[in-house]
Amino acid sequence: TVLVVDFGAQYAQLIARRVRECNVFSEIVPCTMPVAEMLAKRPKAIILSGGPSSVYEPGAPSAPDGLFETGVPTLGICYGHQVMAQALGGVVENSDVAEYGGTTVNVVDGGVLLAGLPTVQSVWMSHRDHTSAAPAGFRITARTDVTPVAAMEHPERGLYGVQFHPEVLHTEHGMQVLRRFLFEAAGCRPGWTMVNIAEEAIETIRAQVGGKRAICGLSGGVDSAVAAALVQRAIGSQLTCVFVDHGLLRKGEAEQVEKDFVAATGVDLHVVDAQERFLNALAGVTDPETKRKIIGREFIRVFEAAAREIVEAHAGEVADVEFLVQGTLYPDVVESGGGTGAANIKSHHNVGGLPEDLKFTLVEPLRTLFKDEVRALGEQLGLPAEIVWRHPFPGPGLAIRIIGEVTRERLDVLREADAIAREELTRAGLDRDIWQFPVVLLADVRSVGVQGDSRTYGHPVVLRPVTSEDAMTADWARLPYDVLQRISTRITNEVREINRVVVDITSKPPGTIEWE
Ligand code: XMP
Repeated sequence: TVLVVDFGAQYAQLIARRVRECNVFSEIVPCTMPVAEMLAKRPKAIILSGGPSSVYEPGAPSAPDGLFETGVPTLGICYGHQVMAQALGGVVENSDVAEYGGTTVNVVDGGVLLAGLPTVQSVWMSHRDHTSAAPAGFRITARTDVTPVAAMEHPERGLYGVQFHPEVLHTEHGMQVLRRFLFEAAGCRPGWTMVNIAEEAIETIRAQVGGKRAICGLSGGVDSAVAAALVQRAIGSQLTCVFVDHGLLRKGEAEQVEKDFVAATGVDLHVVDAQERFLNALAGVTDPETKRKIIGREFIRVFEAAAREIVEAHAGEVADVEFLVQGTLYPDVVESGGGTGAANIKSHHNVGGLPEDLKFTLVEPLRTLFKDEVRALGEQLGLPAEIVWRHPFPGPGLAIRIIGEVTRERLDVLREADAIAREELTRAGLDRDIWQFPVVLLADVRSVGVQGDSRTYGHPVVLRPVTSEDAMTADWARLPYDVLQRISTRITNEVREINRVVVDITSKPPGTIEWE
């Protein structure tokens, strides 16, 4: 494994993902972890991430004691580079000129990391402090007009530092630098491949579940689908999947789970039609948080009832139902392990809120994976592209995309508009460029329009296409005008209640991706 030591913010996840793109397994650990604990994980290499602090400020995170004496090849990036320089006797200071964004570095001595790369390269920088003197024994391998020590190394001690961000795609040769560190400096082997990941996960599941039974809640999303497919591969008919159709899904989604997913995997599927129940529970409710809480609560009740039925049906058998499969991903694990208690912006509901008295043991085969790896694994397992490349969709579904009360009629209107937007996006070949494309019905807003010489008084829908790496931040997607044009024309022509289409051009922050 390669340990990515997290010095704050979201820098570490991107580094960890890039390492895995080099087919080397990586794991994020907090910068407060003692070195002995790090070494217990037998790392082949250590990477220190960037971070938002200044090394010389009181209370700024520093390297754990002894980190630079382990003999494990270590690369410091940005803040990590400065931490290394400062800890070993170099000088880090505030400079008058900050470097943010694209910068040119001059390679003065290729050393191990920059060998064979052009002497002038464009890199991504994001810093105000810089290293003005390298520690004794280090070679300076690159500089910029502003930063005297843009890269340094001490190969005999296995220590390397770069001020720029090799993990960012704007750094022209970033992946080469990372590869040179992993393979030349640290001697890692590229064994982290999808075939290995799948085989290993299947073995682990078999060992964990043995001859017992497991259940899995399917949401229609890629995570639960891949988790279920993997467990199905491992234990076959010992798995039962539960799909709660709460009536808040998009057009064709329930069918996709019931037909395509079952066809691709052969799972034993238990569908619960709970549409009435959810509509009744949501009647008259307009407040977003109340909607979320009601849906979360009802979902748990329905799922629990289904689970109990399945348990009872198999009770007394040797193969009692003992396990619950969940599609928890690595970012969830990292974020909840961070312990910093991020502000509760929205109450996200997952099956994770299941009550304790259900007493299942969790099976979480995707706990170490990032979303892109889950998709690759889904493809490896033969799941259809429509499932593998499906955009993320919130648990509360269309209910939080209807601004106002949720009714059956409004759901039908939104479902039609949403289906058109999705269809046109797919037709334009843009599905994989867009992270998510919510369509939001402003059900309590009306506007005047004219169609076929007569006045209309209908509702607007909002198109909210966004790009993102992880949904933590997002930007509004610059969809081509002709695609927007087709969506707008088709929606206003084909969905009678809608007479206006608007585009949301807010990034996150300050907006969130969903409207509620
Ligand atoms: P926001 O709106 O907070 O959304 O920018 C970030 C990501 O989370 C999804 N989302 C949810 N997912 N249950 C979920 O499983 C929820 O309650 C929920 N609310 C938002 C949203 O679609 C986006 O991908």
